[in-house]
Amino acid sequence: MADQPLVLGIETSCDETGVGIVRGETLLADALASSVDEHARFGGVVPEVASRAHLEAMVPTMRRALSDAGVTLRDVDAIAVTAGPGLTGALLVGVAAAKSYALALGKPLYGVNHLAAHVAVDRLEHGPLPQRCIALLVSGGHSSLFVVEDAGRTVTPLGGTVDDAAGEAYDKVARVLGLPFPGGPPIDRAAGDGDPAAIPFPRGKANDGTLDFSFAGLKTAVARWVEGRERVGEPVPVADVAASFQEAVVDVLTRKAVAACRQQGVDDLVLGGGVAANSRLRALAEERCAAAGIRLRVPRPRLCTDNGAMVASLGVELVAHGVTPSDLDLPADSALDLDVVSV
Ligand code: KG4
Ligand code: ZN
Repeated sequence: MADQPLVLGIETSCDETGVGIVRGETLLADALASSVDEHARFGGVVPEVASRAHLEAMVPTMRRALSDAGVTLRDVDAIAVTAGPGLTGALLVGVAAAKSYALALGKPLYGVNHLAAHVAVDRLEHGPLPQRCIALLVSGGHSSLFVVEDAGRTVTPLGGTVDDAAGEAYDKVARVLGLPFPGGPPIDRAAGDGDPAAIPFPRGKANDGTLDFSFAGLKTAVARWVEGRERVGEPVPVADVAASFQEAVVDVLTRKAVAACRQQGVDDLVLGGGVAANSRLRALAEERCAAAGIRLRVPRPRLCTDNGAMVASLGVELVAHGVTPSDLDLPADSALDLDVVSV
């Protein structure tokens, strides 16, 4: 165990300040500070507020992670940080902090892709990634399918959303239903009491033969349906709307994920990103993968949403395989390409 790399991971791409510490496949610390409450009244993440919160939380979160893991900065073999994609000002805080630690400690620095890290985190739960698998990454900013090879070091995009991300649709529909931000968890809960077949909401691009997604039409359809009820003074059946909306989202996500596995001749599927914490997505993916003979891997909900452990987990793979570290002039790239795993 002691011969496996000890990597510290820093995540600041959105509203969570995360510092994770991982040795090999063992999670030693996963410290998190969230500014989500500061954004709630705006109904979405305010970039400037997120950046300032990262600046204040960075060092306390680092101290907490080191104390939880029972290690010191000197013990660390490398530092990994999310270099993109994400909010520029938010990314800058983490990247600047990571450079400072790397320089002061004389340790290698790895600027990594946030989406690849969402996949690599599953190593901590289910062991080494298969040599080749399909990943469905569903978050507030992305809904993408890709082929992942070499334990996460090679990523090839297969398709993505042409408009809203799945998490974005959850957040917008929650607002229409008067539920708090972020919308995923309250819709997930409300849907538990509703009928998923109550309202036949559209399934965008479900049968178009591509591996792309579209959720903007669904979001608009939900808003129109709710407005229609309000116009005639009828109460809105929140649980039924939430369940029917959720079913439309997870139906298309799981259908296309299975199609991607078939198309690529791959029997392993990994889910990642905040929306992968969704209870119905997890259940339907389980059901459809079992029927299709696909092995499904989904990290526990806490590891699906943004955290530092996912960055450290990807960092371990890079260190273990002798990938060249990043230069200290590493930029933060808000639109970092999906196929760039480390910068
Ligand atoms: O991966 P993540 O933490 O941050 C980004 O990289 O975007 O994902 C955040 C998104 C939000 O849109 C949130 O509403 C959604 O994940 N989310 C969920 C659930 N928990 C978080 N969506 C559906 N069901 C959930 N249980
Ligand atoms: Zn994320």
